[in-house]
Amino acid sequence: MDEVLWAIGRASGVTALVLLSTSVVLGVLTRSGRPLPGLPRFAIVLVHRDVALAATAFVGLHVLTLLFDPLAQLSVTDLVVPFMGEFRPLWQGLGTVAFDLLLAVVITALLRHRLGLRTYRAVPWLVYAMWPVAVLHGIGNGTDAGTGWFLVVTAVSVAAVAGAVWWRLSRWFAESSRSRQAVR
Ligand code: HEM
Repeated sequence: MDEVLWAIGRASGVTALVLLSTSVVLGVLTRSGRPLPGLPRFAIVLVHRDVALAATAFVGLHVLTLLFDPLAQLSVTDLVVPFMGEFRPLWQGLGTVAFDLLLAVVITALLRHRLGLRTYRAVPWLVYAMWPVAVLHGIGNGTDAGTGWFLVVTAVSVAAVAGAVWWRLSRWFAESSRSRQAVR
C-alpha cells in the first residue's frame, strides 16, 4: 500500500506540473485572443479553465497521497508552512511555497466578485511566481528527477512556458493585441 501511495504521489506531482505548464501557455494564448487551428478563441478559454482546474486537482492528490504515505513523513503543517520538513527542507519547502501560491490563486478566483477586477488581475502574476518554484521543487525533491523521462518532461514544460512568456513580452504580442483592439 505504501508503494502505491508513493507511486500515486509522484505520478500526480508530475501530472500537476505538466498541467500547470499547459495552463500557463493556454493563459498566454487566451490573453492574445488568437485561435488555434481547429480551436476557436472561446474554446481556448474553456480548455484553459479546465486544464487549470485539473492541475489544481492533481496538486491536491499529490499532497494528500504524500501526506498519508509513511515514507514521505509529512505533517499537515508541512503542507502550508514552508521549510519546516525533516527531509530536504529547502526543496520540499519550495513545494509548500508553490502550494500556498496556488491556494492564493484559488481563493482569489473564488472570491473574484467580492475582491473586484483589480485584485483578480493579480492571478496571472501569482501563477507566474508559482510555476518556477514548483519546477525547482520537482527537480530538487523528486525521486524520479534523475531519470531521463523526468528530464525530458521537465525540459519540454520549461521550453513551452519560456516560449509563451517570451512571446507575451515581445513586441509581436503587443502589436497583434493593439491591432485587434483597433479593429474592435
Ligand atoms: C504546486 C504544488 C506542487 C507541485 C506542482 C509539485 C510537484 C512535484 C513533482 C513534479 C515532484 C517529483 C515527482 C517525481 O519524482 O516523480 C514532486 C515531489 C515531491 N513533492 Fe511535490 N509538488 C507540489 C507541492 C508539494 C507540497 C506542498 C508538498 C508537501 C509539503 C510536496 C511534497 C513532495 C514530496 C515529499 C516529493 C518527493 C516524492 C518522491 O519522489 O519521493 N509537494 N512534487
